[in-house]
Amino acid sequence: MDSNIKSIGLLTSGGDAPGMNAAIRAVTRAAISNDIRVFGIYRGYKGLISNEIVEFKTNSVSNIIQQGGTILKSARSEEFMSEEGRKKAYKNIQKHGIDALVVIGGDGSLTGAGIFANEFNIPIVGLPGTIDNDLSGTDTTIGYDTALNTIMQSMDKIRDTATSHERLFFVEVMGRNCGYLALNSAIAAGAEAAIIPEISTKKDQLTELIEQGFRKYKSSSMVLVTESKITGGAINLAERVKKQYPQYDVRVTILGHLQRGGSPTAQDRILASRMGVAAIQALLENQRNVMIGIKENEIVYVPFVRAIKKDKEISKELLEVLRVTSI
Ligand code: F6P
Repeated sequence: MDSNIKSIGLLTSGGDAPGMNAAIRAVTRAAISNDIRVFGIYRGYKGLISNEIVEFKTNSVSNIIQQGGTILKSARSEEFMSEEGRKKAYKNIQKHGIDALVVIGGDGSLTGAGIFANEFNIPIVGLPGTIDNDLSGTDTTIGYDTALNTIMQSMDKIRDTATSHERLFFVEVMGRNCGYLALNSAIAAGAEAAIIPEISTKKDQLTELIEQGFRKYKSSSMVLVTESKITGGAINLAERVKKQYPQYDVRVTILGHLQRGGSPTAQDRILASRMGVAAIQALLENQRNVMIGIKENEIVYVPFVRAIKKDKEISKELLEVLRVTSI
């Protein structure tokens, strides 16, 4: 395949996600197999600006596929948001003779990638690395499955104590404004409901839930809540229930950053490996400004502008499965 790319820079940016290391490994080895040199850029765009750039060989990525987090470290860079910052970043790219970038991260990271690519005419390919599963044009993202399993395992433990004390638990999970983590973990853990940002009901989700008598046949229950301002968060919902329904013994658990850690599941390792190899393939095919996605188990290229568009719909089928299985 005819491509002028002889070396790439590779970085992870934004919130880390399990499977990022598997992606780093796959991108590095796929590049080297195609005689492309790889430069690891530490601390995301921050490190691109401060020149924390080191050449990677195949053994630079040995023994990392099973590790959570990212060996390249991650950061959110204020400076990269300015033109001045991006100019500094571009100088370092030139200094190392880097022809293209592979960026692993979420919507903020891919938005930055799109701006940078257009400003300096650099080919950039993105990999969706985020537990939130909030990127459009892809069925799933690297880290989402592991986070889902972590939440499910935590919910199984919460269920034990909820059942013993006959309590109502509100469990808050990450996802920013995307309800996939809450909805699918509610299904997987057998919870009673998920309060998610994508759903707006005539009253509100909590009032409807209670009026529908979601605890009719149960003495204990668990409700998943997405951390978003739109849902109000678990603490706020629990306070409302305590006031309006003092008969319920209510508790709150906020799972927090433990959702981002841990060894990636087989599914995330395979997804990250496939996407990493596809990123190099895309560059060889002269693709630019695209995110690698997966649709119906096939690799697809999604233009950055499409990937970061906040129009990922929540699956009606999944909502129905939760409704039916939680009666
Ligand atoms: O985007 C990933 C994510 O974990 C979100 O779910 C969460 O809202 C956010 O990052 C937390 O960011 P930080 O680690 O910077 O507090």
